[in-house]
Amino acid sequence: MEKIGKWFYEDLPEVLSTNDSVLELLKKVNAPCVVSAAVQTKGRGRLGRTWTASNGNLFVSFVYEIEPQRVGHYAIISAMAVLNVVRFFLPHQKVQIKWPNDVLLEGKKVSGILFEKGPENYWVMGIGINVAATPKVENPLYEITSLADFNVQTNRLKVLEKLIYEFDSLEKTYFKSGFGLIKSLWLDKAYNRDKKVVIRQNGTEFKGVLLGLDDKGALLIETKDGIKEVLAGDLFEGK
Ligand code: BTN
Repeated sequence: MEKIGKWFYEDLPEVLSTNDSVLELLKKVNAPCVVSAAVQTKGRGRLGRTWTASNGNLFVSFVYEIEPQRVGHYAIISAMAVLNVVRFFLPHQKVQIKWPNDVLLEGKKVSGILFEKGPENYWVMGIGINVAATPKVENPLYEITSLADFNVQTNRLKVLEKLIYEFDSLEKTYFKSGFGLIKSLWLDKAYNRDKKVVIRQNGTEFKGVLLGLDDKGALLIETKDGIKEVLAGDLFEGK
């Protein structure tokens, strides 16, 4: 096991889901941990979906304590960290965040994040970044891409190193300057900002205009019935 800053870190050859493996490491060290894996055979996505793995892609989970009132903020910070990583490798490409925390590269999904509650105030932040290959997914909800599709020459461990760096620096910024600054950075990169969107939640949907985030990190949508605060769901382009 290595130590990278405050993180206890392990890279494993094969796991079912790094979101589970990181909790095993937490039990041993009882401190913030990061676990990555070369192969992930049962990756989970948001809202009960699966996360399809291709060799060479990054599968990583972080576990750390978050005060309850800050959980929504960290969902946004994590997406910003991934966004910064993708921008570092592809500074001239369009990189955006699709709420809640998908990162889009030229409009196609390159990364997804799954937050899961751990013990006490611990939360698991599982991040998948398509580094070396674009997985073949049947009937994908969104178009998918990878860094390799844009001819980036790197590997999952270099991407992880940059991700840890970006996450730690954004967290510092957050503690120094507050969520307001993070929120405005997010808004600047938000996919479909000020545009019509459709939000789908548990089989229902509603339309509106994407206004931004509130102080908790929830999405604000202006609908015909007033402004709605959205905590979970999927966002699609509206008409
Ligand atoms: C999504 O877009 O639905 C979220 C996908 C999250 C995938 C990552 S890969 C590493 C970690 N382990 C998992 O089982 N899921 C997350």
